[in-house]
Amino acid sequence: MRTRRSLLDLDDLAVEEFAEIFARTTAFERGEIEKRLQGVACVNLFFEPSTRTFTSFNLAELRLGADVVNLSPRDLSYMTKGESLEDTMVTLAAMGVTVVVVRHPEDGFPAKMALHFDGHVINAGDGTHAHPTQALLDLYTMLEEFGSLRGRTVVVVGDVLHSRVAHSLIVGLHRLDAQAILVGPEALVPTSYERDGVRVERDLSAILPSADAVLLLRIQRERFTQMPISDDEYVARYRLDAARLGLLRESAIVMHPGPYNRGIELDESVLRFPGWRYSRQVLHGLGVRMAVLDLLVTGT
Ligand code: CP
Repeated sequence: MRTRRSLLDLDDLAVEEFAEIFARTTAFERGEIEKRLQGVACVNLFFEPSTRTFTSFNLAELRLGADVVNLSPRDLSYMTKGESLEDTMVTLAAMGVTVVVVRHPEDGFPAKMALHFDGHVINAGDGTHAHPTQALLDLYTMLEEFGSLRGRTVVVVGDVLHSRVAHSLIVGLHRLDAQAILVGPEALVPTSYERDGVRVERDLSAILPSADAVLLLRIQRERFTQMPISDDEYVARYRLDAARLGLLRESAIVMHPGPYNRGIELDESVLRFPGWRYSRQVLHGLGVRMAVLDLLVTGT
């Protein structure tokens, strides 16, 4: 019963819709658009912890004038009373819920929900698969800096294999004609990622001088049992620190989707670096999520 548009990954958006979302983001951030989701019922359903995505979706819905329900997974009859996912989604639609924002540890869980829902499902991060709104806000942050990403080099460092953020960002960078360079040990960045517009490298220090933007990743320890390299080796080879910051161009920016682990993928000098854009990313998360909600629901 899938009749309305969902956002499960960036593949769901036409390339011109990226520009549309970014234009709406700018308009929302400038306060130029009225509350357009008055009376639209939104349910936020997070099966995994979240600070940034959960809070910004909540604020985005409220600022758009929507009716917001934050449903704890433990309160779902689906979790304890044998109700199927299909029946859960039919029930939510029957009471007029229009949008479900979901985070779940299983790859593809939002897609399963969307199959049974006569409304819009927005993927707020599923397993290692995708995190489309994070990728959109990362792209918007880079566009704010560079105007266009065509021909720009974006270096993504760390645990790409388990990162839904990286997986969605790679799709987005390709759509916007940027070059992605993935850097990390083979166990976290397999050579199999290489394709048109995506390169894999092992030596971070060698690659930093060519970067327009660097996106650092957290090691997703909750998604595997044994760390493939020691923390000491990881820090020695891949941590961004003062010495490695010195290899960057003056115009380069450094980003992190958060949460970041001080001392592992970055040290304190990164937080003082003039090109550190983490707060811009978080800020744009709100505007981008308002824009995505608005585009899906109003379609205009
Ligand atoms: N970047 C991100 O998804 O952060 P949260 O887990 O806090 O939502």
